[in-house]
Amino acid sequence: MEDHILSPVKELISRSKNIAVLTGAGISAESGIPTFRGKDGLWNNYRAEELATPEAFSRDPRLVWKFYNWRRALISKKSYNRAHKALAIMERNVPHFTLITQNVDGLHQKAGSRNVLELHGNIWKVRCIECNFEDIDETPDLGELPRCKRCGGLLRPGVVWFGESLDPDILERAIKACRESELMLVVGTSSVVQPAASLSLEAKQRGAVVVEINLEDTPYSRYMDYTIRGKAGEIIPELISKWQ
Ligand code: OAD
Repeated sequence: MEDHILSPVKELISRSKNIAVLTGAGISAESGIPTFRGKDGLWNNYRAEELATPEAFSRDPRLVWKFYNWRRALISKKSYNRAHKALAIMERNVPHFTLITQNVDGLHQKAGSRNVLELHGNIWKVRCIECNFEDIDETPDLGELPRCKRCGGLLRPGVVWFGESLDPDILERAIKACRESELMLVVGTSSVVQPAASLSLEAKQRGAVVVEINLEDTPYSRYMDYTIRGKAGEIIPELISKWQ
């Protein structure tokens, strides 16, 4: 990547006191975790409405659990990559830093990120549909119909499905972080799922500089102050190279 594209953003990162970052499946693609859209995307091969909606779970919880157990097993074998690591390093060097992610894989935390807002939940979380008890269970395969250890009710994955609302507290904190930021990086997301996609507008409307890092254009590219085209695992380490 030519330096005249990266150097203004490098400069912004090193002088900003408040940075917000939004990540999507693209940041974990280089770890070997499939994204949702695009050629090899999950929603190209599986129907989201049969696997990732409350209706699908009521209709056929076994099928939904089969899908989540498959994803849990896949993710359990993957590690964070250079992009996740570089964002953890950025956090340590910026006074106010918030990482907002749509990913449920937990790899940001594994790479050392601390202030992480998981908009769509976490694949290692389970929640009882009867008593709402929440637990973290990193066993890759939880079996056909996992049960609550408190009340014996059926457990569901602790993720946000299509048609469900985001946790209002997490969303509010994410919006606040974007509004207060001086610089916002939007990394590896197709920016088609709301409300996550419009977070960059919250930042921009309050005067932040917004930067998109993605392999390709998205519906939000035209609002960006800078668009950097390429792999997150190559670009983000370069952007923070002075701290490495
Ligand atoms: P998508 O699969 O929609 O988009 C992934 C984006 O990452 C695309 O824009 C790719 O161009 C980009 N990309 C792929 N590899 C990359 C790389 N190495 N470096 C940089 N960019 C790369 O994933 P999301 O935008 O995260 O929601 O999808 C949003 C939500 O839709 C997900 O959280 C999930 C899904 O359905 C729920 O499950 C609720």
